[in-house]
Amino acid sequence: MKKQPLILTLALLLVTLPFVQADNHGGGHDEHHHSELEDQMSAMNKAWRSIRRQIKDPAKNKSTLALVAKVKTAAQKSVKMTPMLAEEQKGAAREKFIANYSKAMKRTVGLIGELEKALKAGDNAGAEVLVGKLNDARKKGHENFKPEDED
Ligand code: HEM
Repeated sequence: MKKQPLILTLALLLVTLPFVQADNHGGGHDEHHHSELEDQMSAMNKAWRSIRRQIKDPAKNKSTLALVAKVKTAAQKSVKMTPMLAEEQKGAAREKFIANYSKAMKRTVGLIGELEKALKAGDNAGAEVLVGKLNDARKKGHENFKPEDED
């Protein structure tokens, strides 16, 4: 006799809990929407920082290669994406902007391939030069294709 109210309370809790959780998901204040390209860029950013930190160390080449593979995958996916700045242009200018961006990103993928080769050959001096070139490509890519108000 005494047990029944407790069982009912527990049953009610079990039934309502999923709804409470679902409501939290939908009612959040996270209004920041990421573009697909931003997601790829963020994915390469963390790996890129580690690569720069450890590129000189031949003992870390295996780990560096795994990080380079991550950057390569994200860069390859990025080639086919459209920067948000393209939406501010129309017609032929927009097409040209996207084509130029895509070309720059393809070149970047090429440099990443060279970086992989240098690391596999144990050429850390060569790899360091390529990291410098990739960093220039990153800066130029951001100057030419990325909105200014972001880093
Ligand atoms: C190692 C190379 C690179 C790294 C680590 C990198 C990193 C980043 C980061 C952290 C952001 C901001 C993402 C955010 O706001 O969530 C970004 C945005 C962006 N990056 Fe890169 N980037 C690299 C190379 C490039 C290259 C080569 C290009 C162009 C050819 C490029 C074009 C862009 C564009 C267009 C955006 C703005 C996102 C959009 O328009 O949707 N990035 N990048």
